[in-house]
Amino acid sequence: MQRVITLPDLRSARLSFSGTVGLVPTMGYLHEGHLSLIRRAREECDHVFVSIFVNPTQFGPKEDFARYPRDLERDFRLIESFTDVVWTPSAEEMYPQGYQTWVEVEAMTKPLEGAMRPGHFRGVTTVVAKLFNAVQPHKAYFGQKDAQQAAVIRRMVRDLNFPLEIVVCPTTRELDGLAMSSRNVYLDSEQRKAATVLFRSLSAAKELYEAGERNAEKIRGKMRDVLAGEPLAEPQYVSCADYDTLEELDEIKGKALLSMAVFIGKTRLIDNFVLG
Ligand code: PAF
Repeated sequence: MQRVITLPDLRSARLSFSGTVGLVPTMGYLHEGHLSLIRRAREECDHVFVSIFVNPTQFGPKEDFARYPRDLERDFRLIESFTDVVWTPSAEEMYPQGYQTWVEVEAMTKPLEGAMRPGHFRGVTTVVAKLFNAVQPHKAYFGQKDAQQAAVIRRMVRDLNFPLEIVVCPTTRELDGLAMSSRNVYLDSEQRKAATVLFRSLSAAKELYEAGERNAEKIRGKMRDVLAGEPLAEPQYVSCADYDTLEELDEIKGKALLSMAVFIGKTRLIDNFVLG
C-alpha cells in the first residue's frame, strides 16, 4: 500500500495505475463498515484508493471536529492488505489560504441532517467533488448509513456530470443492531446499551409497515414511542420521507426512507431503514 499526502504525489500515484479505480472516501478511525466498502471496491475495481481526511468544512462551530477520533497508524494497519493507495491530504492543501469555491446541492440538503447541521452538506459535497477531481475514480463507495449524504452525492454527480458511478453499500451493524460509526467510541457502557434504541425504533416501524400500515404519521409515531421508552435518548428528528426527494410523506406509496437523529448523552447518532 502506497501512502501519499500531497496532491502531486497523489496524481503521480494515480497515473501509475491503468484499469479501473475505486475510491472509498473516509474520515478515518476506520471500522468494519468502512472495511466492507473497501472490500466491495476491491471486488469491483482493479485498484482501490482510500482517502482519510477529517474535513473541517462539514462540521458546525459547535460540533465535534476537534475531538473527532483519529488514529492513522491503526487505520493503515487495517487496510494495508487490500488497499493500493491511501491518501491523507492536509487541510492546508485542500483549503489553501483565500479558499472561496463551494459545491452546493440545493433542495435535498434542506431537510433532515441539513436542517440540523446548517452548512454540513456544502462541506461534504465540496470535499467529495475535490476528492473526485483529484483521484478520478471509476466508482466511489459510500454507506447507506448516511442515507441523505449518499442521495446528495448521487445528485451532485448527475448534476455536474462527474464520469463515475456511485455505489451505496448496506449499513454494517453490531450484533445488537447498532449501526457502526466512528462516533460510537464516545459512548460509555450505559449509553452503548441505550444506543440500540435507534435500531429498535426503526425495526418497530418497519414491522408496522410490513403489517400493512401506510400512514406516514403513524409510522413516525411508532418510532417516537419506542425512542420515548429510552430515558437516555433525546431525539432530534424522526422522519418518514420520500426516498428520492427526501420530502416528508403523508402516505407511503413507493420507496420511503425512515430516518432519525438521536442524542445519547452528548453523542449524536443517526440511522435509517429503506422501506419498499
Ligand atoms: O461519510 C464521511 O465519512 C464523510 O462525510 C466523507 C464522505 C468522507 C466526506 O468528508
